[in-house]
Amino acid sequence: YLQKVRDLATENNIILIFDECTSGFRETFGGLHKKYNVEPDIAIFAKALGNGYAISACIGRKKFMQAAQQTFISSTFWTERVGPTAALKTLEVMEREKSWQTITQIGSNISSQWQHLADKHDLSISTWGLPALSGYTFNSPNALSYKTLITQEMLKKGYLAANSVYACTEHKQELVDGYFEELDPIFATIKECEDGRDVSSLLEGPLCHSGFKRLN
Ligand SMILES: Cc1ncc(COP(=O)(O)O)c(C=O)c1O
Repeated sequence: YLQKVRDLATENNIILIFDECTSGFRETFGGLHKKYNVEPDIAIFAKALGNGYAISACIGRKKFMQAAQQTFISSTFWTERVGPTAALKTLEVMEREKSWQTITQIGSNISSQWQHLADKHDLSISTWGLPALSGYTFNSPNALSYKTLITQEMLKKGYLAANSVYACTEHKQELVDGYFEELDPIFATIKECEDGRDVSSLLEGPLCHSGFKRLN
């Protein structure tokens, strides 16, 4: 797919930009272009690059990067050094620890445990996403209610959880086991709802938004 997009962009003289804001450093030490061997003209990184600190980066072919010379970029905070310093350290640690491999393994494990839990309770779910950034959706008209219920009930147990996980190296097995232990009875309740119990009577607040859909 990406190679086709690359070919189309080249044929039509279109600049191809990979927005790796979220995917960057989750599959490779850098961007997905390293894994798929498809070169964009520009790629954008942020999030994992600073491990929580504010930083973003734009890389690209010289020809396109040089375009910045024909404009004037200013910013109140452009001498700010916390983000760039955090990013340099993060890059060093990521490279040393090979964090993308660890989080890919953790994420794959979590994803298969969701499926296992769903099977145990005879629930139908679809899992999605990169292994290190995976999620699941109930195949049910009540999917959004169930997602809301999970957040509501997991908060009571001390977990900030919806239906996705951005795996990090500190998601050790013990933590993941604790999460699944608490999720188990909620899946049991959801099964009751699939069998006729009214899920709206269990919700203590409004339904959650369905991601970016609210914006378009
Ligand atoms: C793929 C992607 N691009 C862009 C953004 C937003 O970037 P910014 O907040 O710098 O506009 C996000 C997440 O917030 C994202 O996941």
